[in-house]
Amino acid sequence: MEYRRLGKSGLQVSAVSFGSWVSFSKQFDDKVADQLMGIAYDNGINFFDNAEVYALGESENMMGRVLKKKKWDRTSYIVSSKAFWGWRGENNKPNQTGCSRKHLIEACNEALLRLQVEYLDLYFCHRPDKKTPIAETVWAMNHLIQQGKILYWGTSEWSGVEIMEAHRVAEHYRLIGPTMEQPQYNLFERNKVDKEFLEIYKNVGMGTTIWSPLASGLLSGKYNDEIPKDSRFALKGFDWLKDRWIADDKIKKVKKLAELAQKLGVSTASLSIAWCIHNPNVSTAILGASKKQQLLENLTAFETLKKLTPEVMEKIENIFKTKPILPEF
Ligand SMILES: NC(=O)c1ccc[n+]([C@@H]2O[C@H](COP(=O)([O-])OP(=O)(O)OC[C@H]3O[C@@H](n4cnc5c(N)ncnc54)[C@H](OP(=O)(O)O)[C@@H]3O)[C@@H](O)[C@H]2O)c1
Repeated sequence: MEYRRLGKSGLQVSAVSFGSWVSFSKQFDDKVADQLMGIAYDNGINFFDNAEVYALGESENMMGRVLKKKKWDRTSYIVSSKAFWGWRGENNKPNQTGCSRKHLIEACNEALLRLQVEYLDLYFCHRPDKKTPIAETVWAMNHLIQQGKILYWGTSEWSGVEIMEAHRVAEHYRLIGPTMEQPQYNLFERNKVDKEFLEIYKNVGMGTTIWSPLASGLLSGKYNDEIPKDSRFALKGFDWLKDRWIADDKIKKVKKLAELAQKLGVSTASLSIAWCIHNPNVSTAILGASKKQQLLENLTAFETLKKLTPEVMEKIENIFKTKPILPEF
């Protein structure tokens, strides 16, 4: 396993990590969660990602039960939560969502109970809250750090401007600013990581814990011919995600990637993940897996990484043509 500093912080995070969205509690029970987290940890993964909204709190409950049973040294792993959507679904009342001081502090306390830990290593604002002043969010996060309930805070899917406003506020009041951002990043979705955030890495430093490295599985090639019955896009209630990803032009590109993977003697999923962690601005790529075999396959990305020569990278670029255009000056 390779470990990377999370932005300019001292925290070392494994270059791939493990997340619970969709799978925990929806697709499998405690037994499988225990098996997958065990494989992850035994292979050097030290970061487990979660959020209040995943399975409406049940994902955190499940991860908490597994962590308790595993009895791993608490200092050996990093666990996160994210607040914004609340966990009551349609029953959310005002103040049970968003990034206000009230919701961030209450959601943190609830996540600690569900995960059965004394502190969160990473705590994210799951989305920007357009109705709460960013200064209030920064003060709330700083307060939680001072209380020892969280160690680092960050954002998810915030714009570069919003992240820089958080830094401006933090610097002005001498508070602790955001350490990391959790953006989507994969061969189809590159604009934030490869363009919008470039000045932030350079000027203030920022770690990235990127999500959906396989575009929800599309970049494993599993959807090239059909939608397998036991896959994410076949799940009830996930039509919106299937509609976002399944498109002829995208499948055509994945098929070409699969040909390249075959020539390299690696799997398409492994190649897609290796491509993500090839980027030094990616601190960690959060893997998702519903089955043991997938996780083991995805962990081969480190071997595949060694095959990503400039020529191979150029071939991938030519297949996808998703590299953002940067200004020349
Ligand atoms: N901050 C945010 O807004 C946000 C949003 C989304 C996710 N996340 C985080 O990022 C994590 C990863 O996201 P993700 O789950 O979308 O990642 P992903 O890697 O794009 O998709 C993972 C899914 O693809 C399928 N898969 C994985 N490996 C495979 C393989 N080798 N062969 C075939 N199929 C494979 C599995 O689904 P099936 O077997 O069910 O098909 C698996 O659950 C989440 O768990 C969550 O922690 C954050």
